[in-house]
Amino acid sequence: MENTPKSSNTVWHRATVTRQRRAKLNQHESVLLWFTGFSGSGKSTLAHALEEKLYQMGYHTFVLDGDNVRHGLSGDLGFSNDDRIENIRRISEIAKLFVEAGVIVLTAFISPFRADRAKARGLVGDDFIEIYCKCPVTVCEERDVKGLYRRARAGEIKDFTGISSPYEEPSHPELSIDTNSHSIDECVEQILAYLIERGVYKPKSV
Ligand code: ADX
Repeated sequence: MENTPKSSNTVWHRATVTRQRRAKLNQHESVLLWFTGFSGSGKSTLAHALEEKLYQMGYHTFVLDGDNVRHGLSGDLGFSNDDRIENIRRISEIAKLFVEAGVIVLTAFISPFRADRAKARGLVGDDFIEIYCKCPVTVCEERDVKGLYRRARAGEIKDFTGISSPYEEPSHPELSIDTNSHSIDECVEQILAYLIERGVYKPKSV
């Protein structure tokens, strides 16, 4: 789907409350933390654990989560390649708006295709931080928290990522988190350390 509007009769309205002014009010920058990985690799768990930590420190955050968004905004989409591409296109645009709104956005979608993640990066620019939740699909399948891998193996779910649908590993993610061999707390600390380095997160002394 194209990014150019169907109607040419629309004019962009420039807000006086800019992203820069929001950042000043919020006392922090906004970024997009894009979690990608197999189902069961820890994307949502990690995004919510990190959000909890940031929230407690007074940061404005929001998690966009695959399973939740597919109940509403993307409720009309399935798991064919085209539907996943459209799903990620919508999320990318929404995430961009949230970033404009001054929010630290955490997205937790499989987002299996490199090209779609690259498009999301293109929309948000330097504030796009790709976090690869690295966990072998064999381990995700063993855990099978939602019982979906078993159903996919039984042929009850088609186009299942890692079983009957591809996942393209990020080639240059800002962060690659080994969710298989580290605890949630350790993974959160790793991301926070990166955000400190980037100047996004400034730990307040207690
Ligand atoms: S994406 O490919 O479009 O990025 P998304 O993250 O929104 O996927 O949704 C993935 C979630 O939907 C999984 O965590 C799982 O719970 C559920 N799901 C249902 N069917 C499938 C499928 N065929 N492939 C992958 N995940 C599926």
